[in-house]
Amino acid sequence: MIVGKAVRLRPIERDDLPRFVSWLGDPEVCASIALALGPGLAQEERWFEGVLAQPALEQPLAVDVLHEDGSWRHVGSAGTHGIDWRNRATEIGLVIGDNAVWGRGVGTEAVDLLLRHAFGDLNLHRVWLRVFADNARARRVYEKLGFRHEGTFREAEYRSGRYRGVEVYGMLESEWRARNPQVGARSARPVRKTARPRRG
Ligand SMILES: CC(C)(COP(=O)(O)OP(=O)(O)OC[C@H]1O[C@@H](n2cnc3c(N)ncnc32)[C@H](O)[C@@H]1OP(=O)(O)O)[C@@H](O)C(=O)NCCC(=O)NCCS
Repeated sequence: MIVGKAVRLRPIERDDLPRFVSWLGDPEVCASIALALGPGLAQEERWFEGVLAQPALEQPLAVDVLHEDGSWRHVGSAGTHGIDWRNRATEIGLVIGDNAVWGRGVGTEAVDLLLRHAFGDLNLHRVWLRVFADNARARRVYEKLGFRHEGTFREAEYRSGRYRGVEVYGMLESEWRARNPQVGARSARPVRKTARPRRG
């Protein structure tokens, strides 16, 4: 579990799946991510079996928000997609499905924690992402955190009868460390990750 000030990232549980189905069925959420159609519960359960088959360190994580009464509430997910261990690079993705918490800094803190995980725990070198050109809210999150705009896939996504541009953003470990001087210096030799991390 990765715990921040008002947000934490934790393993996804089976009980979370109905919430994902509801959020991904929201047209506003669905329109912002790489899913042309929100999944049903049966599809989500199959997706979850695939998640459990991945090494624990590579699984997507649930995003929880801290409430005033001290309890945590599940609002979305964030994670790495297909870590490339040879190049120490990963694509990331983020969905804050509960739109009641949009605009309160949750997405920003979730990606900040994910970067801490990617560079600080997984010892990655590069984190990158794709975002629709017209998703100004998400682009603002990534730009606030210091991601660099690396390019555009023009007219790359066909949805609702029109093509949309896809923007690519990236961050290098050195850029992340420069923005987070409180994090200690990197060890001289990268730790080689095994396919199946040990527990304990
Ligand atoms: C995009 C998303 C992750 C943002 O989460 P969030 O919790 O609202 O993000 P934050 O509150 O941390 O930051 C949002 C920022 O965008 C700004 N913003 C909101 N609407 C905006 C708009 N139309 N244009 C520009 N900026 C906008 C906010 O003001 C805020 O910036 P600020 O802190 O400088 O004021 C969330 O809306 C979401 O999951 N949407 C659906 C799925 C999605 O788009 N995922 C990302 C795919 S790449």
